[in-house]
Amino acid sequence: MSSFVEVAATIAGEAGTLLRYYFERRVTFEMKGEHDLVTEADRASEKLIVERLKKHFPDHSIMAEEGGGQDLKSEYRWYVDPLDGTTNFAHSYPVWNVTLGLEKNGEMIAGVVFDPSRDELFTAERGSGAFLNGQRLRVSKAARVADALFSTGFPNHNRGVNPNIHFFHELAQTAHGVRRGGSAAIDLAYVACGRLDGFWEIGLSPWDMAAGVILVEEAGGTVSDMRGEKHGLRSPHLLTDNALVHTELLEVFKDLWAGKTLHPQPPIL
Ligand code: IPD
Ligand code: CA
Ligand code: CA
Repeated sequence: MSSFVEVAATIAGEAGTLLRYYFERRVTFEMKGEHDLVTEADRASEKLIVERLKKHFPDHSIMAEEGGGQDLKSEYRWYVDPLDGTTNFAHSYPVWNVTLGLEKNGEMIAGVVFDPSRDELFTAERGSGAFLNGQRLRVSKAARVADALFSTGFPNHNRGVNPNIHFFHELAQTAHGVRRGGSAAIDLAYVACGRLDGFWEIGLSPWDMAAGVILVEEAGGTVSDMRGEKHGLRSPHLLTDNALVHTELLEVFKDLWAGKTLHPQPPIL
């Protein structure tokens, strides 16, 4: 493990312990947008992570969701989601994580996703593979959409104009199932370890996906946007999968973007 991943894993572990403390005591939430929750736990976790990162890497830039980062002239930039899955967390639904990704000159080079509820630490470094608690990961082997389990998400903002319900509806008819876990970094980690065959979402933020995309790539999966174009952390949408179902998924998505659908939504009686 490089020192970057080691440090990030240690920090994620500390933040995870702090988050578990808040989770067990139940926290109240505030709204920072129409459907966008934030808790004391998000802020405390971010404070801890940013302090530790600044101590280890004082020259690195940090983009953290709750605004506590620093923007420096550095080739390195950390993306920090101090609590991914806040809505779940605030409802005591145990699907949430803490995640850190590191970019160098515009390329993701390392990522960590820590799920304290299951004590699962996902790590990846460019060129060295992806791991779950130290065990090497590979994406799944499902070769057809009809044999696949997917996940997706609906962001906290602009829900009324998000077309994802059409993608959800279509794949729910043809695949084994479509989950909506509520924690994008866990969805991505699950594609990397083969628990899911693919994941897509429209409107994610860079900190939601920074670590997860390198996990998927290092586990042998494919990352693109939902039209099959090259994905970057500022892309409007993301599609990741085990590489085997990628072409078939993009065919379906192409029809959906064009307004065509094989399974029209049913009328409400
Ligand atoms: C959210 C979760 C959710 C996804 C949203 C994200 P947050 O992150 O990852 O699964 O659907 O788009 O904003 O707000 O809990 O950190
Ligand atoms: Ca998030
Ligand atoms: Ca968050």
